[in-house]
Amino acid sequence: MGGITIVGTGRHAPGAPVTNEMLARVMDTSDEWIRRRTGIEQRHFAEDGMGASDIAVPAAQRAIEAAGLTTKDIDYILFCTMTPDFLFPGSGGLLGAKLGIRGVPALDIRQQCCAMPFALQVANGLVASRAAKNVLIVGAEAHAGFMPWQKWEALLDPEVKVASEDYQRATRHRALAVLFGDGAGAMVVRASETAERGLIDVEVHTDGDDAEHIFIEGSGFRRRPYVTPEQITNEEHIPSMEGRDLFKCAVTRLPEVVRSLCERNDVALDDVDWFVAHQANDRINRVVVQSLGVDPERVPSNIAKYGNTSGATIPILVDEMYRDGRAKPGQLVCFLALGSGLHWGAALMRL
Ligand code: ACO
Repeated sequence: MGGITIVGTGRHAPGAPVTNEMLARVMDTSDEWIRRRTGIEQRHFAEDGMGASDIAVPAAQRAIEAAGLTTKDIDYILFCTMTPDFLFPGSGGLLGAKLGIRGVPALDIRQQCCAMPFALQVANGLVASRAAKNVLIVGAEAHAGFMPWQKWEALLDPEVKVASEDYQRATRHRALAVLFGDGAGAMVVRASETAERGLIDVEVHTDGDDAEHIFIEGSGFRRRPYVTPEQITNEEHIPSMEGRDLFKCAVTRLPEVVRSLCERNDVALDDVDWFVAHQANDRINRVVVQSLGVDPERVPSNIAKYGNTSGATIPILVDEMYRDGRAKPGQLVCFLALGSGLHWGAALMRL
């Protein structure tokens, strides 16, 4: 038997797409700026009251069905999210209950945009140690909750007036707000039946010194009480992001970790069929591609449609690739991601 392999995938994007022009109704931005600086054209937002575990349900069901399994076959859930339904408990257990598999262990992975390399490593360990056979890995995000505008109806209706104070608040957070969208991607993984296929290796890193490049300062348990009205007034419930620093970290650490992982496994970059990268900004991925010297055709992108769905970007992209026939058995894939923490890493898998 080999490492874990992907046997089924699914995705879900809630609600109708929200275009860049729609965002320009609630803050000072433009379609031109967003496309040129990020490659994003639209994103989705879940409706109020819908949490990451709800968005995850259709994605998980599709992945389980594609694997030819039923929910009863799933014996472990790894739930990747940075926008859980509740501060605690985690969303994995909620998803298990919604899928009707109460009692199945569920572990939340809190590695933000870098969740997938970590989740693959954990799933591989669970399967190798026989703690699990069919692991459901889900990435799901409900970022709408931290968006900085209040008049959601103005997105849809240009006639709705936005108060100047509301518009100014949203504009202060525009670099962050234009990036993120909601969505879920899911994969069922299990041990490969042959040694030639499956997960080959994972390399992950963490540096807490850079934690404040992107983080939510408010509602943390350092403070008593952990949430106050002042935190909302001070907009501490909205992530604070140093975009340029993150950009620099991503374009240096991602090529480094990909080279290191490939070298230690005697894999030439030219032998990799697909570099499936986290979708934070199309410009980041273009710089990474250039730095690695690989063919951009081997670095698929879907950020135009979904924006950055954090822990969900990689499984959403993987599902698209399986369903449109780009992903084929025997191909060598390198997954790569960097996220708040900072965490960064890469994984090599023979499909
Ligand atoms: N619309 C219009 N103008 C804007 C917007 C906007 N949405 N956002 C910023 N600007 C303006 C700025 O105010 C600035 O104006 P100024 O020159 O008059 O001061 C100008 O555009 C340039 O701003 P920069 O911040 O330098 O723009 P940059 O080219 O760096 O792009 C961005 C910003 C898109 C955020 C980029 O830095 C980036 O993508 N960084 C990485 C972010 C990232 O990866 N985040 C996810 C982390 S992963 C996780 O775990 C969550």
